[in-house]
Amino acid sequence: MIPLETDRLILRNWQTKDAAAMHRLNSDEAVMKFFPFRRNRIESDLLLETVKNKIDEKGYSFAAVELKQTGRVVGMAGISDIASNMPFAPALEIGWRFLPEYWGKGYATESALKWLEFSFTALEKEEVVSFAVADNIASTAVMKRLGMHHFPELDFDHPSVSDEYPQLKRHVLYAISKDQFNAQNN
Ligand SMILES: CC(C)(COP(=O)(O)OP(=O)(O)OC[C@H]1O[C@@H](n2cnc3c(N)ncnc32)[C@H](O)[C@@H]1OP(=O)(O)O)[C@@H](O)C(=O)NCCC(=O)NCCS
Repeated sequence: MIPLETDRLILRNWQTKDAAAMHRLNSDEAVMKFFPFRRNRIESDLLLETVKNKIDEKGYSFAAVELKQTGRVVGMAGISDIASNMPFAPALEIGWRFLPEYWGKGYATESALKWLEFSFTALEKEEVVSFAVADNIASTAVMKRLGMHHFPELDFDHPSVSDEYPQLKRHVLYAISKDQFNAQNN
């Protein structure tokens, strides 16, 4: 259960002091390039509370990622049971979002590896999926680094993205099984 720890990071629940970081992760244009919405501070504060409660209840969701060296929140990463309107539901999704000044340091892959380990051991899941807008090369690169595999036949138009944003609709689907993860990481 969280907090989880890696060499450089602590994956922990959100705290009130993280509100500014959470807001940037929901409003910064570079971070949100592949999302059809931006959250203002009030919406972001509400989300922080919602995610915090979910982590308290379930033990997981999209957690805060704190850099051990500075104690600062640099992004979010975690797992979530996907919404029932998704074409491949039910499934467990893994995802990530980091502040731009912390890109290119391996933090997304490092935190996601820990969440995969948690999914296959603590939660005893058989498979974890991830999806992204087809053009989101930085995100699919994380999936590949994790050893996830693309399933082109399962690519889909995201049901929650409106026709106003045709360039954000098409998503690619990647997945990794427990056996594949164990073979790569043992
Ligand atoms: C997607 C996202 C998290 C990827 O971030 P990232 O920094 O590229 O990914 P990682 O943290 O795995 O870092 C990997 C890079 O760090 C480099 N790196 C530097 N030091 C490293 C270290 N000590 N260990 C590992 N990698 C290191 C790697 O070489 C790699 O660089 P490269 O991309 O030039 O090959 C980031 O682009 C982001 O937040 N985007 C906006 C939000 C978003 O779209 N989220 C996904 C929605 S589906």
